[in-house]
Amino acid sequence: MLILEVVMSTIKIHDREFVKSIPSEEIAVRVKQVADRINRDYAGKRPLLLGVLNGCFMFVSDLMKNLEVECEISFVKFSSYQGAETTGVVKQVIGLSESIEGRDVIIVEDIVDTGLTMHKMLETLKESNPASLEIASLFVKPVRMRVPVSVKYSAFEIPDRFIVGYGLDYDGLGRNLPDVYDVKE
Ligand code: IMP
Repeated sequence: MLILEVVMSTIKIHDREFVKSIPSEEIAVRVKQVADRINRDYAGKRPLLLGVLNGCFMFVSDLMKNLEVECEISFVKFSSYQGAETTGVVKQVIGLSESIEGRDVIIVEDIVDTGLTMHKMLETLKESNPASLEIASLFVKPVRMRVPVSVKYSAFEIPDRFIVGYGLDYDGLGRNLPDVYDVKE
């Protein structure tokens, strides 16, 4: 159960308390900056945004609204998390139904943590010979990376802390929050 706004923008989700850390206004500014870079880099091209469900849905929506280049969107789904601890196991749940051969693909992810999900995704997609393949991630936790993954477009680099909101969840809850919250130690 989600109990909202107790004190100092603190919320409780399941058994954990979270404190507001990034307001929606700041997220909007950073998302626009990422979109501006993509608009410049992909001028004259027609990139295919490949959203990684579930966490990407708010980010990819706001990102796409700020894109001025012609672009398309499709979704895939991976799962490597249960609650606040990674299982270290990455599984593809929903695959890509269309051809990405010769396409300029931008994978859109909510957060790159250990990098295992994106590593596997890059490996899989490269087999289909896209013209180019880049990652746009709202958040990156550089100290948590276990495999080298190059994230060309990231809005925020954050420390090793579990966060919720703006699409990110803790055991299924918190995705609807417009702001981002850090878990309370
Ligand atoms: P990775 O494979 O370890 O990079 O994990 C990527 C996935 O883990 C993300 O797409 C999220 O679903 C989940 N994840 C990692 N860190 C967090 C977090 O701080 N909050 C919520 N989900 C997270």
